[in-house]
Amino acid sequence: MADPQPILEIRDLITRFATRHGVVTAVDGVSLTVAAGECLGVVGESGSGKSVTFASVMGLIRQPGWIDGGSIVFEERQLVGLGEPAYRALRGKDIAMTMQDALTALNPALTVGTQIMEVILAHVDGLPAGQRGRNRAAREQATEMMRLVGIPSPETRLDEYPHQFSGGMRQRMMIAIALACRPKLLIADEPTTALDVTIQAQVLELIADIRRELGMSVVLITHDLGVVAEFCDRIAVMYAGQVVETGPTGDVIGQPTHPYTQGLLGSIPRLSHLDERIRPIEGQAPELIDLPDGCRFQGRCEFAQPACEAFQPMRDRDGRRGVRCRLADGELAA
Ligand SMILES: Nc1ncnc2c1ncn2[C@@H]1O[C@H](COP(=O)(O)OP(=O)(O)OP(=O)(O)O)[C@@H](O)[C@H]1O
Ligand SMILES: [Mg+2]
Repeated sequence: MADPQPILEIRDLITRFATRHGVVTAVDGVSLTVAAGECLGVVGESGSGKSVTFASVMGLIRQPGWIDGGSIVFEERQLVGLGEPAYRALRGKDIAMTMQDALTALNPALTVGTQIMEVILAHVDGLPAGQRGRNRAAREQATEMMRLVGIPSPETRLDEYPHQFSGGMRQRMMIAIALACRPKLLIADEPTTALDVTIQAQVLELIADIRRELGMSVVLITHDLGVVAEFCDRIAVMYAGQVVETGPTGDVIGQPTHPYTQGLLGSIPRLSHLDERIRPIEGQAPELIDLPDGCRFQGRCEFAQPACEAFQPMRDRDGRRGVRCRLADGELAA
């Protein structure tokens, strides 16, 4: 059976930043797809380009950064080069992203209620016609959304400012704002890091419920492999600005092929080990300035050979998995 038409298709995306030390290529040839209704988990060490990839999708790369190549197609529409007015109509309605850093993502000058009601008033259909009725309905929906993400006394907290919220409450508020307009695609960047375990489970369940109810697609960026195993249909592993392995979650976790993925999973993949966050692998990722062509993991890889210094394309494995390593060809095995 043919795969359903992807809702999001990123091809060969390149995003760079000018810095004092030179040009940093934060995203270097990333290709990813998200099918309608699917949940894609994106994992990888800090600095691997997860957030920049999806900030690029949201049209949020600003000076000194720029998209230097590739394409981002959302529902058959090219987003690279899309003007800000068109982007504004898309953001918060069709695509919503919860930012990793909730404090900077919320506007400090507006109450959280104003911020969530703005989204509802701008994007939710079926509100009453008159101004007062519209506002009252938006306020009710905002309160309900805040209650759903576990914010106590939402009727009063609605009138507070972001700085009056704790880190965890701000993160929930951001999720409430993102979900308020019922987007077709939710990009959740580390949505539960500041939350305790119980609330984390509640928030993920809420995202899963809305996903089921609306057929919403989700990109879940996370350090938590247990969360990926539980919630995501497919997984993409990023390393040093590239996708190094992708495929159905069970396949990648059950049979990781790239040595970096194997390292993330602690070599012996057993689901009982997945209650853990990504464990550090010895050594460090390379600087993203003036990188050589070859495999970026070779400095830390026990299987590295001189041939790894050549450019490593993504290898297609039975049409469902991709691996950016010669191991996938069976060349390095044994
Ligand atoms: N505004 C910027 N200016 C310069 N470099 C940047 C900028 N934003 C991101 N980068 C660089 O891009 C690289 C990728 O960053 P990104 O935030 O995407 O990583 P990440 O995978 O989301 O990491 P984390 O898990 O810590 O959130 C990093 O090396 C970072 O230094
Ligand atoms: Mg990030």
